[in-house]
Amino acid sequence: MDRQISSPQATGKPLLDTALGIKQPTPPIWIMRQAGRYLPEYRQVREKAGGFLNLCYTPTMAAEVTLQPLRRFDLDAAILFSDILVIPDALGQTVRFAEGEGPILEPLDPAGIAALDPTNALEKLSPVLETIDRVKLALSPNKTLIGFCGAPWTVATYMLGGRGSSDQAKARIFALEHPEAFSALIDMLVEVSAQYLVAQFRAGADIVQIFESWALNLDEEFFAAYVIEPNRRLVERVREFIPGAPITGFPRGAAGMLKTYAEQTGVSVLGLDYALPLGFASDTLPKSLPVQGNLDPLRLVAGGQQMEDRARKIIAAFADRPHIFNLGHGIVPQTPIENVARLVDLVHGRV
Ligand code: CP3
Repeated sequence: MDRQISSPQATGKPLLDTALGIKQPTPPIWIMRQAGRYLPEYRQVREKAGGFLNLCYTPTMAAEVTLQPLRRFDLDAAILFSDILVIPDALGQTVRFAEGEGPILEPLDPAGIAALDPTNALEKLSPVLETIDRVKLALSPNKTLIGFCGAPWTVATYMLGGRGSSDQAKARIFALEHPEAFSALIDMLVEVSAQYLVAQFRAGADIVQIFESWALNLDEEFFAAYVIEPNRRLVERVREFIPGAPITGFPRGAAGMLKTYAEQTGVSVLGLDYALPLGFASDTLPKSLPVQGNLDPLRLVAGGQQMEDRARKIIAAFADRPHIFNLGHGIVPQTPIENVARLVDLVHGRV
């Protein structure tokens, strides 16, 4: 796999450089889901936007909320404000975000999969690309701009289940009962997601992340077929257009399959969830592989000494490899803002 980039040129963006394998004196930091409801200024724009998808598809507002966390905190990256479920929306599936309930989709059956239409998907997503354009113009040259999409399996769990669930049973049963229809869906998601990520790079993203948020609860064969293989093809397809494209894979909950995932997908950076023991990561993953993670988001809610101790342990565990500091999953709405500021200062070596 072409993860290793030989003697990469420094770009002057500490986070991107780390992803390219150039370790920094202190780890760069961004916070998963850093634009969101824990920020009062986000809630204000969100209210003005009306529907959540309307916020995603209005470039002025989406660019504004992308930049909000960087105004408050000395973060090293902005992440595009959008959602992984804009892809099903662009394919013609009905997607809505109900207040306090999360996403709700009209679940697909085999006929529904056959009716999906990728022809105009990229055009439908053009406002998201315009958001990237706008953010890029406003962003300091030492800050990295992160684009993203959901991984095919994770997006498919929502398309088939209709909403989030704790075990993704609907999608898992569908995949086992209708392997042909399921593979057709995965193939379509690989191709549309690849074109979408390529377009994000062309619009100005420096690196992209593939969110495989539901990589847990899967047996090894299922994991190989529907997590590793689609991620591998997605990475390969993006790099056909953008040679050497820096890509972060975040297979949340991959546990014993994590090393195989990293080896076989060829991702540039591996995202680590918070359940992964630090010793497992440092003993098992090649030293040349940049990692990102893995603070428990609830430690950031509780704050204080326990948060600082754990953050320092994570930094120490990855002192011998390129490391991007992050949470092990998304920041939650009840997170106190002062704890975020404190964490950023700590990671930058200022406390
Ligand atoms: O700062 C950022 O990261 C903003 C961009 C972003 C959002 N969603 C905005 C959002 C990103 C990168 C995502 C990714 C995403 N979306 C994932 C993968 C990461 C993860 O958390 O596992 C997933 C699974 C989704 C699907 C999704 N979107 C869910 C389950 C929900 C509801 C629950 C929740 O996490 O908030 C959303 C809605 C959503 N996406 C919100 C935001 C800010 C909250 C909506 C609101 O403001 O009402």
